[in-house]
Order: sequence, then C-alpha cells, then structure tokens
Amino acid sequence: MRLDKLLGNNGFGTRKEVKQLIRKGTVKVNGTLEKDPGAHIDPAADEVTLLGEPVIHQEFIYLMMNKPQGVISATEDSRERTVIDLLTEEEQRFEPFPVGRLDKDTEGLLVLTNDGKLAHELLSPKKDVPKTYYAVIDQEVTESDVSAFAEGVILDDGFETKPGILRILAAGDQSEIELTITEGKFHQVKRMFEAVGKNVVFLKRISMGTLRLDAGLAPGAFRELTEEEVTGLDPRKKD
Ligand code: URA
Repeated sequence: MRLDKLLGNNGFGTRKEVKQLIRKGTVKVNGTLEKDPGAHIDPAADEVTLLGEPVIHQEFIYLMMNKPQGVISATEDSRERTVIDLLTEEEQRFEPFPVGRLDKDTEGLLVLTNDGKLAHELLSPKKDVPKTYYAVIDQEVTESDVSAFAEGVILDDGFETKPGILRILAAGDQSEIELTITEGKFHQVKRMFEAVGKNVVFLKRISMGTLRLDAGLAPGAFRELTEEEVTGLDPRKKD
C-alpha cells in the first residue's frame, strides 16, 4: 500500500494533506525518514510513525446501523438514497457494504463492514445465523401460525422454508409478533406471512446472531461495533 494511502485511510487528512505531511519530513518508516508519498508500505510489517507517534493501521470497519425506512441496502444507486449515503466520509473511506439486505420499507439492524469473509460467514446458508424480526401483522396471528412456522412454510415460488420461531407479543386485529429465522430469502418474512394468508404492515430487524440492535440508535443512526460484538458475531471465532 502507498504511504499516503495508509495515512489517508487512517484519518490523517485528505490525500493532498498527507502528501504535504510526508514531504515535510514528519513521517518515519521503520525509524527512517520517508519523504516519498508513493513509498510502498506493508501495513502488517512496517512501523510507521508521524511526528513520533505510531500510525495504527485499521483495515476493517464494523458498523451497526438502525436502518430507517426509505433507503435501500445497497452501496450505490442512481436514483435511491442508500445506507452508505447515511455514513460520513470517515466511514465511507473504508468502503463498507451492507451484510445482506433489508427491504426499502424495513427498519432495524443492519451490519455494514468491508470484511468480506465475515459477511460471507454471516450470510452463508450453511451457518444458520438466526435473525429476529419484530413485525406488525394486518390481522390476528394464531397458534396455528406458530405451528405452521415451526414446521416451515411453502413460499409462493414453492420454496419450503426452514422452521421459524414465531412468538405472539400481542394478538388482535393488528398483531405484534417476533419471528426468528435462519434464512434470508428475498422478502422472506413478508412471504412467510403471505403463505398463511396475512400481511406484514411494519417490519424491523432486532437481532442477527449474537448482535442486538442498540436501543439508543434512532433510525438512520449508526455506531462502530465493539470488539466483543465483532468476536461474538463471527462464527469462525466459535469453532
Ligand atoms: N424479510 C422481509 O420480508 N423483508 C426484509 O427486509 C427482511 C426480511
């Protein structure tokens, strides 16, 4: 990696600013002054200091967002606002992407990272990572729906889902439920309810694996995951 990129990526200024810092002779690599912004650095092996302070290289970013309605779970789009547009430049320079998708009208927990391996682990169907949703349903949800979901239901395209755990929080003309599933088919929660003749009128993801949506995050807000949260989320760390 270029020296100016390393400094820029780690928050020491714009590419232009860090080039000036390097040319001024403020940066040492392995104890030797380095004035070439294009010098090649191995972030894992080389020790870089700026004015004597070590430059800590952060390669990965892990964010939890409370996705609001009205934005799409994509990195870019010519017409729609994306979850990446909600981040500041500081997070965007890590080039994070959403781990899986929530529909435009779905709120709640969305993990954003540039760690492709973790994303793969979380999304791999083989890993059965549980995802829990809170939903409001347009009619009464019954114990027979709970049993149907526990067996797995057949979606409109003939796909048979794995068992889901349905909990009725409040039954009535508009029921409130929580549903835990381990798959992530397109519109899965909405289509599971359609399979039992009901419609989701509000949907929010509240957890993914060990990670629970931080109640302090308003829709559209985000924060970095703690080290414990990242470790807990990573199925590779549990083997
Ligand atoms: N299931 C859905 O139907 N929509 C989502 O956004 C997530 C799960």
